[in-house]
Amino acid sequence: MQNDIQEVLYSEETIQAKVKELGAAISRDYQGRNPLVICVLKGAFIFMADLAKNITVPIALDFMAVSSYGNSTRSSGEVRIVKDLDSSVEGRDVIIVEDIIDSGLTLSYIIDVLERRNAKSVHVVALFDKPGRRTADLNADYTGFTIPDAFVVGYGLDYAEKYRNLPYVGVLKPEIYSN
Ligand code: XMP
Repeated sequence: MQNDIQEVLYSEETIQAKVKELGAAISRDYQGRNPLVICVLKGAFIFMADLAKNITVPIALDFMAVSSYGNSTRSSGEVRIVKDLDSSVEGRDVIIVEDIIDSGLTLSYIIDVLERRNAKSVHVVALFDKPGRRTADLNADYTGFTIPDAFVVGYGLDYAEKYRNLPYVGVLKPEIYSN
């Protein structure tokens, strides 16, 4: 698996330090509140676990899975809920945890759904952001790393369901895509 990686962009140490910073910022901003933290599956699962350990205010956790029609590296904008939340968001302060914002279409769909369900507030934390590819008009409230337009894997992010378990984030060798 490691042999498929062309370059490590963010080491495990770099990611962990950033996740601590994001957790501290969220803990400060949500002082006295009890937000519902929503993990967008599957890509955000490792980020969610590490982030949750660094949030010091009481939180509730929930999970949502969405699928976007399109090929494996580009979202089509047509999104559907594959696994919905177990809890109601009505009147809750909600924090959406995303692995990466690319076009922004997935996230704008999720935000729209949560607002229509009358969440009190909806904010977004994304570990990675590719602003160069944005088509939807939105930005994360908390961003880990701004990255150029490259397809990255590791730390929850996959290519064809592989590489999610790498503790770092990197780019694949080009020949992996052509196999
Ligand atoms: P949109 O375009 O809707 O897409 O913002 C967000 C989702 O697309 C996936 N995505 C990636 N997955 N490496 C990945 O493994 C990437 O570089 C990448 N870029 C986008 C991801 O599921 C994200 O939630």
